[in-house]
Amino acid sequence: MKSEITLLPGDGIGPEVTNEAVKILKAIEKEFGHSFALNHALFGGIAIDKTGSPYPQETQDLCKQADAVLLGAVGGPKWSDPTAKTRPEKGLLDMRSDLGVYANLRHIRTYPQLINCSPIKNDYLDDIDIMFVRELIGGIYFGDKVRLDDYAKDVCEYSTSEIQRITKVAANLAQQRRGKITSVDKANVMATSQLWRSVTTDYLETNYKNIELEHMLADAATMHLLTRPEDFDVVLADNLFGDILTDEASLLTGSIGMIPSASMSDDNFGVYEPIHGSAPDIQGKELANPCGIILSASMLLRHSLGLKEEASAIDNAVESVLDDGIFTVDLSKENFVSTVAMGNAIASKISS
Ligand code: IPM
Ligand code: MN
Repeated sequence: MKSEITLLPGDGIGPEVTNEAVKILKAIEKEFGHSFALNHALFGGIAIDKTGSPYPQETQDLCKQADAVLLGAVGGPKWSDPTAKTRPEKGLLDMRSDLGVYANLRHIRTYPQLINCSPIKNDYLDDIDIMFVRELIGGIYFGDKVRLDDYAKDVCEYSTSEIQRITKVAANLAQQRRGKITSVDKANVMATSQLWRSVTTDYLETNYKNIELEHMLADAATMHLLTRPEDFDVVLADNLFGDILTDEASLLTGSIGMIPSASMSDDNFGVYEPIHGSAPDIQGKELANPCGIILSASMLLRHSLGLKEEASAIDNAVESVLDDGIFTVDLSKENFVSTVAMGNAIASKISS
């Protein structure tokens, strides 16, 4: 298969981990006889430095012509002055909206090999496998904003059709999994949450009768995620709750460095990125865990290119490296390998 992938390494550890994902994609190309055209583009802080915009026109064009986009990370202290004209995070939000990638899938699972890395007690961590479906281009992130010296406002809006389309994504995933959706909201306080609750209920009753739906208030969800994580299958949430809950849930895995994500539009197009940030404190030190972006590359192959076997080859290679006790520093403080060594170990599992 021939396909085009746009790479946005971004800032901080973004370029280091992206290099490792490229290594893995090249190993897959060779092993399975595909041809991936990998085009680099500027994005985030580095794009602000070079062009004045975090999401310049040339990058927009390269993203739109590609089959999928693989992103490292954006942001850093250099660009975090709140009075600056623009910020890397603005590029991220503009890109999500411009590309219409409304469905953010974040897969949180526990690895038996990493059970001791989690700050959560081991008894809670058997076989956790949660797929978060976060609405990504609506809600309070994109509503009207006002910022004056002594007053500020963020508007949260959702329409029925926005809620229906994200519910559909969650339902299709739940059907391939354990058939359950937990929808998170604050229907005891927010009007958008009340609409969310009634639309998800009606939509699933009409179109997916076999799916079990439970509603949960966001504050309660933060507790239940830690005390009975095994009860969750698909978690459906709006933009803000989904952002917060997925960072929390990453603790179950043991390291945020392990977690991939996919942000999808309707036509299988997607932006794939690890959920960790740009970690400027460890930039250039070869300490970053490349598994998050490598597993994101696996999601890219599975969801945008339909290459399931190849995606499984990556997932298995990561597991096998963990079985061998090869860890980056976020997973083992005493005995760890560099970012490059981790990438090499995973690549060699694919090629062998
Ligand atoms: C994420 C990030 C972003 C978000 C930030 C960087 C704008 O936290 O992808 O989860 O809040 O969506
Ligand atoms: Mn976040």
